[in-house]
Amino acid sequence: MKILLTGAQGQLGSEVNRHKGFKEKHQVIAMSRQELNIADAETVRATLHLHRPNAIINTAAYTLVDKAESESDKAFEVNAKALEYLATACQELNIPLLHISTDYVFNGQKPTSYVESDNIEPINVYGMSKWQGEEKLRSIAAKHIILRVSWVYGYYGQNFVKTILRLARERKELNIVNDQRGCPTAAKEIAQMLYALIEKIDSGEQAWGTYHFCNGPSTNWYDFAKAIVAHAKNYEPLQVEKILPIQTKDYPTPARRPSNSELCCNKLIDTFAIVPRNWQEVLPEVIEEIYAK
Ligand SMILES: NC(=O)c1ccc[n+]([C@@H]2O[C@H](COP(=O)([O-])OP(=O)(O)OC[C@H]3O[C@@H](n4cnc5c(N)ncnc54)[C@H](OP(=O)(O)O)[C@@H]3O)[C@@H](O)[C@H]2O)c1
Repeated sequence: MKILLTGAQGQLGSEVNRHKGFKEKHQVIAMSRQELNIADAETVRATLHLHRPNAIINTAAYTLVDKAESESDKAFEVNAKALEYLATACQELNIPLLHISTDYVFNGQKPTSYVESDNIEPINVYGMSKWQGEEKLRSIAAKHIILRVSWVYGYYGQNFVKTILRLARERKELNIVNDQRGCPTAAKEIAQMLYALIEKIDSGEQAWGTYHFCNGPSTNWYDFAKAIVAHAKNYEPLQVEKILPIQTKDYPTPARRPSNSELCCNKLIDTFAIVPRNWQEVLPEVIEEIYAK
């Protein structure tokens, strides 16, 4: 298949772009923000008409969760309005659109894991902008898959794992919040899931809709940080001696975060017969790769 990839230099876009299966079996037209600004309606339309791909994978997004609180216009332009442009062109040309959304569309008050049909109530600007993007896609393009993912980290870009590695080199003590629960999900695992979805679309399977995908089981940032440091110690001596749990109220940020954003993946497992791996199995692979560079 000919696949057009947006946001190709982002954390997830880079993983899709280097994925072996995509390289060997498909033709990927990888477009960075400079090559395709998805917030420019005319460029989106012209690019899709020029390339006429068999599918689009949209990994482009405004992802600065805290900054979005003070520059909401930018967040809505890329995460919501641009979805209208992409979805409209896809519907016009009958192109399936695979889009990534977030656990931050939920308010975090549910005591158990979130299913796709749960009530949506974003508690920050980023979550609201991503939710609006989902809604535009659902209402415009018949052939779409929205994959809601959570706590993304990986080899490329800036993420929690890399921040903890840096802090653990610099400081003796780290204070990490332990009252936000979620599932840390590796970008390479999402890329693999997207590859599996493309294969299914290629073989004629029609299972359009919204799905949750994450590497369970749920944890909190404090326990995740401890796991990161434990693995990293196999590769280098670190300054850090103590990691202490703190509460969200003691670490104020411009954007509120849901206290529980664990995603239930049962719909995806039942529909596609693909079981996401556990984060405990994936994390050491990503850390190994980070140290191998
Ligand atoms: N990171 C997480 O923890 C997380 C959690 C849940 C869901 N998600 C979702 O997962 C997806 C991938 O996120 P990620 O972690 O890969 O984010 P990322 O590393 O920030 O990558 C996003 C990419 O989109 C590009 N971009 C921004 N505005 C654009 C525009 N107008 N046109 C085209 N490209 C544009 C960015 O380019 P610049 O670098 O030049 O700005 C960047 O390369 C997103 O949909 C995100 O909302 C992420």
